[in-house]
Formats: sequence, structure tokens, C-alpha cells
Amino acid sequence: MDKQVKSKKRVTDHGEVFTNDSEVNAMLDLVKHEAERIDSRFLEPACGNGNFLTEVLKRKLTIVDSRYSKSQIEWERYSVIAVSSIYGVDILEDNAMECRDRLLGIYIEWYSKTFKKVNNDCIRSVQFLLNRNILWGDALDFTNPETKQPIIFSEWSAVNGSMLKRRDYMFKFLVEKTHQFSMFNDEGNAAAIDEPVKDFPLIHFLKLGEGDTNKL
Ligand SMILES: C[S@@+](CC[C@H](N)C(=O)[O-])C[C@H]1O[C@@H](n2cnc3c(N)ncnc32)[C@H](O)[C@@H]1O
Repeated sequence: MDKQVKSKKRVTDHGEVFTNDSEVNAMLDLVKHEAERIDSRFLEPACGNGNFLTEVLKRKLTIVDSRYSKSQIEWERYSVIAVSSIYGVDILEDNAMECRDRLLGIYIEWYSKTFKKVNNDCIRSVQFLLNRNILWGDALDFTNPETKQPIIFSEWSAVNGSMLKRRDYMFKFLVEKTHQFSMFNDEGNAAAIDEPVKDFPLIHFLKLGEGDTNKL
């Protein structure tokens, strides 16, 4: 996308000027090794409609393609890990939605370019991850601008090949690791500030978002 400004009002209200492709690529080249590591975690706290995150996804998928295009299940496994490592927040809801849509569009384009028969379970898992990882929120006060609920991010870790472990953390505490805050865990003891607010059972990477056992 070339357009860097959507409206004057948005620039005034939210400083919304998107970064162009050449600047995005020059900046990502500064962390080239990380941008090309399939499971390196990237969080953009003012992600806009995703100019950086889409490029990160493309770089990760290039590596997945080069290593796993001979096996669809391996390609799916590693591409899901790639998506699960990409995080974004934006204060404007339409930007967060557009960012998710662009990432999903890129994923589907690359997947269907590599394999003839797309597995819908894989697409559903990717959609679930994007809905969970790209959030509408204020990165300064760490809440959703409408509900004022705290922003919660999910950490995804691959376990035993095909399984994923999800742990949810409060964004505020991830940022302010030194923040002295009184919180208590289930046993009534003071909890570490970076303790997960929720811990989920292991789930197969192709089963994310399946049924209602897997709410956002
Ligand atoms: C300069 S644009 C950059 C967008 C994107 N990072 C890029 O490089 O194309 C700034 C973005 O920050 C968002 N933003 C402004 N204040 C914010 C806040 N407190 N929390 C989260 N996002 C915010 C705006 O909506 C806008 O999308």
C-alpha cells in the first residue's frame, strides 16, 4: 500500500502517517537475522494498518517456503508459528482490522501459491491467531479505548512438534516489568507481575478457534 496518509484529521488526532516500503525494509534490514527467524517475536505498539508487520510476515514466510515447501504439513506447522510470533496494537479499530486482513491476505496468497489444496483448518487457526495477536488498544494506557479493559496478549510456544501452549499476559506488566503492583494469585500469595493471567491446555496447531472451547 502506497498511501501514507488517510486524512488530515487522523494525522492531527493520532499522528497517523504510514511508513513507506523502502523505509520499512531499510529498518527491518537492521534486524535482518531476527526478521527472518521463523519464531522471533515482533510487537509493534502503534502498528497502523501493518506496513511493518506485513513485511515481517513475508520475510518469515520466505524462510518457511525455502525450508518446508516439500511437505504441506511442515509448511503449515512452521507458518502457523511464524504468524503466532507477530503482534500489533493500534488505537484506531479500523487500523487493527485492516492490519489483520492484510496479514491474512498475505498468508493465504503464499499458502495457495505453494500448495494446490488449502486446508481450511489451517486458515482458521491463522485467523484465530491474528484476532488474538493484533489488538485494538491504547499502547500508552494499556487498555482498549472503548471498554477500558486491559490489553491481554497471548504467548504461543510450540511443544512436542504439533502442539501449542498459550499463556495470556497483561500488556501493561510485560512493558513495565519493574512496576510494583499488588496482585494476588489463586492461593492468595503476591503474584509475580509477569505471571500469566491465564494458562491454557495444550492444543494442536490446526485446532485453534475450533468450537467454543477456544474463545478469544
Ligand atoms: C506514524 S503512524 C505509524 C503506523 C505504522 N507503524 C507504520 O509505520 O506504518 C502512528 C500509528 O500509531 C497509532 N497510535 C497513535 N497513538 C496511539 C496509542 N496511544 N496507542 C496505540 N496506537 C497509537 C495511530 O493510529 C497510527 O496508526
